[in-house]
Amino acid sequence: MFHLGWFLGNGFGIQPWHGPFTGRGMTEWTKPDMYRDMTSALERGGFDFVFIEDTSMIEDTYGGSADLTLARGFMAPKNDPMPLVPLMTQHSKHIGVIATASTTQYPPYLAARQAVTLDHLTEGRYGMNVVTSVTHRVGQNFGYDKLPPHDERYARAAEWLDVVSKLWNSWDDDALVLDPSVPRYADAAKVHTIDHRGEHFSVRGPLNTIPGPQRRPVVAQAGNSIPGRELAAEHADTMLAMGKSVEQMKAFRDDMRARAAAHGRNPDDLKVMFLVTPMLGETDAHAREREAQRLAYAQSDAYIEHILWQMSYISGGEVDFSTFDLDAKMPDVVGNGEQSSMRQYVTGNEDKTLREVVTTIRQIDDLGLIGSPDTVAAKMGELMEEVGGDGFLLYPEVTRRSIAEYADGLSPALRRRGLIRDGYDHTTLRENLRSF
Ligand SMILES: Cc1cc2nc3c(=O)[nH]c(=O)nc-3n(C[C@H](O)[C@H](O)[C@H](O)COP(=O)(O)O)c2cc1C
Repeated sequence: MFHLGWFLGNGFGIQPWHGPFTGRGMTEWTKPDMYRDMTSALERGGFDFVFIEDTSMIEDTYGGSADLTLARGFMAPKNDPMPLVPLMTQHSKHIGVIATASTTQYPPYLAARQAVTLDHLTEGRYGMNVVTSVTHRVGQNFGYDKLPPHDERYARAAEWLDVVSKLWNSWDDDALVLDPSVPRYADAAKVHTIDHRGEHFSVRGPLNTIPGPQRRPVVAQAGNSIPGRELAAEHADTMLAMGKSVEQMKAFRDDMRARAAAHGRNPDDLKVMFLVTPMLGETDAHAREREAQRLAYAQSDAYIEHILWQMSYISGGEVDFSTFDLDAKMPDVVGNGEQSSMRQYVTGNEDKTLREVVTTIRQIDDLGLIGSPDTVAAKMGELMEEVGGDGFLLYPEVTRRSIAEYADGLSPALRRRGLIRDGYDHTTLRENLRSF
């Protein structure tokens, strides 16, 4: 069996809002209803979690202005995902919600306390995705002139997670006395300061709330660069990984398992979830037709502009891709943002034109998962067999129709093959993640 997650790639932001089947997306995205429906539907479909992206800025790298960003709703406007988390879990009992917290935005004490609070409110189903942020624009909203350099951000993130972990452990297991006859609520001798004084943070502690149902909320990590992998290997319960081919996926997972073991951890406790964008249809022919439409759209000016916009963002706001000749060679630039994502466009494509790269290379692949639910389910089973585990993080567009396609189309097909869970053995996110 393998695990399933759903990547809400535009966070608590504007979801598809024009075109067929988008309902009231234009105005409804700020309300909890669709996200709550989604969580309940995906629990019916046996998903382990919904994974919410987040970033705090309005992009203006592409073309040097926020025109395109705000005309189309690219990554902005966007609400804070944290208050949404407990609303999302209200009508479900088992599925988890992982939300993104940036080490650039949150002081560690605030993040540790918020995560435990959310763990209480979700009854043990909260996960925190630790990122270092991508662009200077985020840095500039949080007191920096520029976002710190990539590896420095990760060094800071490592200390940040160390502090957060110490705070989560600042209450001993038996610190709660809960004896009304004395009366004594907690034993101060079992609640400890952490007295952390490091290069980036000074935090006294202890945390001023009691441990939640998971004690240590689930930790996720999304960067695939070497320092990103190290951060995940030491601390994460799950990580988001790029799926490109069976060989690359197997090598990536083996690498992560070896790194986790080197940190003295059981590699089975780190679930590597491969990000993929399958294309479902009612029949294989219908799915191929939809794929043909997607490929045709990938040649359009609107698509090219969107990808150039996106590359400008993931370069860390350092490269304005509107300034290059589309028919000249792919520029050799990586920038200070998501380096592993940028390398997918750059490395090995030096002889292609920018237009060829933009129209043929996808940041997130479909891995050939195109077909009816049955066909896609069978292929997912074969892929996982070869890779060795642990699961997929699906990244479909977010409409009520697509949610139904996965929860009520793909999941039953996977379940018929015994590939995903048929119900949950536990109530907390970590226990369910570790149950196979
Ligand atoms: C698929 C994916 C999702 C990410 N999600 C977020 C996010 O929600 N918010 C954010 O600030 N950074 C996000 N990041 C950025 C990374 O987590 C990371 O902190 C940083 O940009 C460096 O990435 P790298 O390790 O690939 O170089 C994401 C990266 C990837 C590849």
